[in-house]
Amino acid sequence: MAIPAALQPGLKLPVIAAPMFLVSGPELVIAACKSGVIGTFPALNQRTTEGYSEWLDQIKAALGPDDARYGVNLIVHPTNSRLMADVQVTVQHQVPLVITSLGAVKDLVDAVHSYGGLVFHDVTTLRHAQKAAEAGVDGLILVCAGAGGHAGVRSPFALVDEVRQFFTGTIILSGCISTGRDIATAMMLGADFAYLGTRFINTTESMAPDAYKQMILESHAADITYTPAISGVPANFMTKSLIANGLDPKNLPEAKAMSLEHEARAWKDVWSAGQGVGSVKDVLPTAELVARLGREFDEAKSDFEKRFG
Ligand SMILES: Cc1cc2nc3c(=O)[nH]c(=O)nc-3n(C[C@H](O)[C@H](O)[C@H](O)COP(=O)(O)O)c2cc1C
Repeated sequence: MAIPAALQPGLKLPVIAAPMFLVSGPELVIAACKSGVIGTFPALNQRTTEGYSEWLDQIKAALGPDDARYGVNLIVHPTNSRLMADVQVTVQHQVPLVITSLGAVKDLVDAVHSYGGLVFHDVTTLRHAQKAAEAGVDGLILVCAGAGGHAGVRSPFALVDEVRQFFTGTIILSGCISTGRDIATAMMLGADFAYLGTRFINTTESMAPDAYKQMILESHAADITYTPAISGVPANFMTKSLIANGLDPKNLPEAKAMSLEHEARAWKDVWSAGQGVGSVKDVLPTAELVARLGREFDEAKSDFEKRFG
């Protein structure tokens, strides 16, 4: 259980700013890495593999050896026709961290390991965690109940413990982590990294429109609907956004099979966020957010020491 040495340079907090479809781009990645946390983006946020490669050039040109490392998210799904080309570009650029979603494939893991890169894989269940471990991934991202995007239903207390029983690699905890105290709690549970999505939507560098950020400010945990209707697989969306798109949250259409072509249209209109929205009270520059998370993390540690040390 540890943060891999390759991800330690420049890291000031055990935090990954999670990849978010249509939300994270180079500006957010660069700001996150310069603030001392790992910045990431989905390759599919660029329309073409060439565009993806240009973003990697931009990120690499902006970052120095003292900044935290960056990562990309690749969707391993039969409808992602770009996957092979994107993997090639990833290997050419020697991206330090590759986050795979949906499928865990040994060939991809081997390709990333060939240049010394690391692979973390998103899972929501113990069975998927076991399959990904067999594929040789370096880390498992446990996407627990209430997370933004495609989320699971397990409690983090249950899943971290079950995964730790067989997996000795890096454990990354995801779902409703919005404050420094939440990050400290994830560490206390035994995670090596906290994985924050929703909190980073409300930064000045995120690509989300202002109305999206405003809706997050106005939402609480109870305003999040978990449904497969939009994406084909269960995901969390802001209920107000479902209603704004003419959908009845209590009577949603049947889920269709997931297709990445459909995803682009769906996520542009219906806005995803996790149950952690209730802790998000502002929109601020990433550097300020990370500095505050650091202060809150330290306060949580000393508070714990005072109470139980
Ligand atoms: C708007 C949005 C888009 C997302 N898109 C992706 C994605 O493209 N790929 C991915 O692996 N995870 C995606 N996620 C999931 C996040 O990477 C992360 O697991 C999640 O946001 C963490 O939970 P939190 O939002 O409660 O912090 C998305 C999440 C949100 C909120």
